[in-house]
Amino acid sequence: MKLFIDTGSVAEVEEIAAWGVLSGATTNPSLLAKEQDADPGESIRRICELVDGPVSGEVVSDNVRDMVAEGHALAGLDDRVVVKVPFGSEGLAATRELVSNGIPVNMTLVFSAAQALLTAEAGASYVSCFMGRLDDISIDSESVVGEIVDALGPDRDAQVLAASIRHPMHAVIAAKLGCEVATIPGKVLKQMLGHPLTESGITRFTDDWTSRPEFGEWLRGLVEQSTAASR
Ligand code: G3P
Repeated sequence: MKLFIDTGSVAEVEEIAAWGVLSGATTNPSLLAKEQDADPGESIRRICELVDGPVSGEVVSDNVRDMVAEGHALAGLDDRVVVKVPFGSEGLAATRELVSNGIPVNMTLVFSAAQALLTAEAGASYVSCFMGRLDDISIDSESVVGEIVDALGPDRDAQVLAASIRHPMHAVIAAKLGCEVATIPGKVLKQMLGHPLTESGITRFTDDWTSRPEFGEWLRGLVEQSTAASR
C-alpha cells in the first residue's frame, strides 16, 4: 500500500519526505487554511517537488462549470497535481469532464460502496473514503472500506484511498483490506514509527557495542578505509 501524507504544511512534508516512504500527498481546503501566511499555490507546488508523486488539490465550488475551471487551474500548478472533487452529482459530472480533458481526479468525501461505484464509473483515479469521520459517527469504517474494495473488485481502475486516518491501526486495516493508498497526517506517521522493543533494542545494541571501545575503533577504521577506497 502506498503512503501519502495528508497535510497542507510544507514544513511537515519536508521533514517526513526525508524518510523516503512517501509516494504522494493530499491537501484539502481545511488543511491549507490552517497554514497561516502560506500561499496555497506555492504550498501545493512545493509539496509536489518534495514528494515527487501525485498531490491532491481540492476544488471548492459547488457547480460543474466552476469545478472544472478550478480543476484546470489547479492542474496547471504542476503535472503531478491530482484534482480533488467532493462527491455528488455535480462532482461526478465535473469528474467525467476533467478526466476526458486528461486531468486525473481524486473523488473525496466518499462514505459508501454505492458512492464508490458511481465514482469509479465517472472515471476517478482515486476513491477517498474517510475512516475517522465514519468512526466519529459510530459507523465501522473497516466494514465500509472493506465493502468498497470488494464492490470495486480486484480489476478496478480507481484506486481505493483510505483517508481521515486517526491512528496507526487505521493504516494497517486499510492495507489489510487491500487499499492501494492511505493518506496519513504527519502526527500519525510519527506514531507509526514507535515501538518500545525497537527503542529498547537500539539502546541495548548501542550499550553492548560501546562496552567494547576497541570495536568502535575498529569500525571507525573500517569506515575510513572504505571511504578512502571509494574516492
Ligand atoms: O484530507 C482528507 C481527510 O484525510 C481529512 O480527514 O477527518 O482528519 O479531517 P480529517
